[in-house]
Amino acid sequence: MNWATIPKVELHLHLEGAAPPEFIRQLAREKNVELPGVFDEKGAYRWTDFAEFLRTYAAACSVLQGPEDFGRLAQAVLETSAGDGVIYTEIFIAPDICGGGDKVAWGEYLAALTEAARSAQASHGIVARFISTCIRNHGAEAAENAARLSAGTAGEMLTGFGMGGEERFGSVQDYVKAFAIAAEAGLEITSHAGEICGAESVRETLEHLPVSRIGHGVRAIEDPELVKRLADEEIVLEVNPGSNIALSVYDRWEAHPIQKLRDAGVPVTVSTDDPPYFHTDMPREYRRLHEVFGWDAEDFRAINLTAAHAAFCDEKTRSEII
Ligand code: ADE
Ligand code: ZN
Repeated sequence: MNWATIPKVELHLHLEGAAPPEFIRQLAREKNVELPGVFDEKGAYRWTDFAEFLRTYAAACSVLQGPEDFGRLAQAVLETSAGDGVIYTEIFIAPDICGGGDKVAWGEYLAALTEAARSAQASHGIVARFISTCIRNHGAEAAENAARLSAGTAGEMLTGFGMGGEERFGSVQDYVKAFAIAAEAGLEITSHAGEICGAESVRETLEHLPVSRIGHGVRAIEDPELVKRLADEEIVLEVNPGSNIALSVYDRWEAHPIQKLRDAGVPVTVSTDDPPYFHTDMPREYRRLHEVFGWDAEDFRAINLTAAHAAFCDEKTRSEII
């Protein structure tokens, strides 16, 4: 199988988390910004655990300073995804990072990102949509502001709202209002849960937030009743196996629950999360799924169909990627 050319639908990719280290170093040089501790001796991102990953991520983001930088980044990321065989991608962006939560700035950032997405579609054929996220460890007030900005810009390109960041911070209930604002505006909803925290985090998310998908969700496997509920309610999991292994959620590919979840009837999809941080990309994820679980072209076709059905896009776009 040619892992780069097999078509792929990716639903979970953080824009800043997809920035190659060289891209961040180049911007740092242009702006004369020092980035102490961000890179290791080989030039890769330096982090050892989830908390440090989030700190390194935030530090690297400090060189992304205006709409033009984000437009450049989106263009580079989309070109890489297209080269990896991705035909449709959903990219997480964050009002807290794009303009620090300011309304005028957010509009300008979104315009630059939209332009990059249209240009990548014209030049590389890849179709992209954006999911705006709040950052859990920035608190409920910042989340509500992010939701209001997202609600005001919901449309053809900005189609979803979600939450990333430190899963151990606060409680899901604190974010009910933010998600209600976003859902009310017609944005489709996903949220990170069951990545760092266990099944209870997934259960709380289902209980309190209007999600149709969950970012990661893999630790639901720790509760068989919850697994059955995910299957019965057809809650789609955006699974990122390479990310989970890099962050030591599982110690090796063989221990990853994606196959068990799939066997239990949970709709699973495959994405990369933050590829350069986790030394992965879509072809590598597919290759490992083939090597470890024996997934073949038919399995990949099936998970891509699941992803296309769960995609936050209009029906015309969906019919074009199926
Ligand atoms: N933001 C970027 N990557 C993330 C991850 N894997 N979990 C939570 N928030 C994130
Ligand atoms: Zn993520």
